[in-house]
Amino acid sequence: MAGKEHFERLQALIDLEREAEKQENLRELRKFPVSQRESRGKTVTGLIAEAISGGMGGLTMITLSRAPKGEELAPFHAMNAGDNVLLTLSPGNEFLTVEGTLYKVDEYRVTVAMTRAAPEEPIRGHCQIDLLGSDATYQRMRKALITVSESKRSRLGALREIFLGEQQPERVRAPKVIWFNRALNEYQQSAVKASLAAQDVALVHGPPGTGKTTVLVEIIRQHVARGERVLATAPSNIAVDNILEKLLGTGLRVTRLGHPARTLESLRHGNLAAQIEEDPAYEEVQELDAYRERLIHRKSRHGRGIQQLGHEERQLREREVGKLWRQARDLESEIAR
Ligand SMILES: Nc1ncnc2c1ncn2[C@@H]1O[C@H](COP(=O)(O)OP(=O)(O)OP(=O)(O)O)[C@@H](O)[C@H]1O
Ligand SMILES: [Mg+2]
Repeated sequence: MAGKEHFERLQALIDLEREAEKQENLRELRKFPVSQRESRGKTVTGLIAEAISGGMGGLTMITLSRAPKGEELAPFHAMNAGDNVLLTLSPGNEFLTVEGTLYKVDEYRVTVAMTRAAPEEPIRGHCQIDLLGSDATYQRMRKALITVSESKRSRLGALREIFLGEQQPERVRAPKVIWFNRALNEYQQSAVKASLAAQDVALVHGPPGTGKTTVLVEIIRQHVARGERVLATAPSNIAVDNILEKLLGTGLRVTRLGHPARTLESLRHGNLAAQIEEDPAYEEVQELDAYRERLIHRKSRHGRGIQQLGHEERQLREREVGKLWRQARDLESEIAR
């Protein structure tokens, strides 16, 4: 396999970066008071250990929850499955802090997976969870590295050989170009042509502010004019917004993917989420979501909330809530198509 060491090195660098992020989060933990961290969703206190069990692969799974206190944001609003957390258990007087990974996250309940045995004593009293960092990005990078390095007779495998310099990229004769942007200088024009001639990869590089994004926009427009759909990516949200801003001015049909909160406010109408919301069918999604919300907060006949319901009744309610959530998301996917 080509470039094995190359991929191993990248993997090691990713691990280093992840560890550095964790250390940074630990430093932050010590710097800010609990109340402040709690208001930002970085810490949840007052948790009761509901259940503890040996899970898959030698992991211990512990489920913790807290009764709703009428707070505006549910305690776990800023945490996601896969995130690294610090779990502080206080069984009796023995104080125990362990690292774990969020396995399942609901509004008032989480399940944490930890790589050590459960404490012998039952866990009494209040526990606390502190967010150490999101693992999602690292998992995604790791998975991508493995996919690329292990890919064999596929397009991806061929591109890997090219990027590692083991194969030459192919190019055809540059087509005749009718320019959208007639202000491009000769270097920019030749960069666009090189890209259109490239069958595998083209690289345009230049000092800051020399017109690279302007070239990229012309390249995208040329491909669209040839009936193609284009996926444009960039290494940061702001860089994506940069391209988006220029593309929105061209009249092309553009959709920005990614979390709306990470898109510049002025460009949010270009976001997929915003485009879905404009669809007439979106009203039904909103109705499903509103109904689900009401179901979550509806009290039983005895005035009890979902947390205090009997096991069976709660399972029933949770299943219904889950079904509504699924329906709403399915409908969204349908609109997105
Ligand atoms: N051929 C051109 N004639 C006149 N102005 C141009 C030309 N090409 C680009 N510009 C202008 O130069 C500025 C920088 O261009 P652009 O954003 O494309 O550069 P960049 O290389 O992508 O910059 P950065 O390094 O910051 O990403 C913009 O205001 C753009 O409109
Ligand atoms: Mg640029």
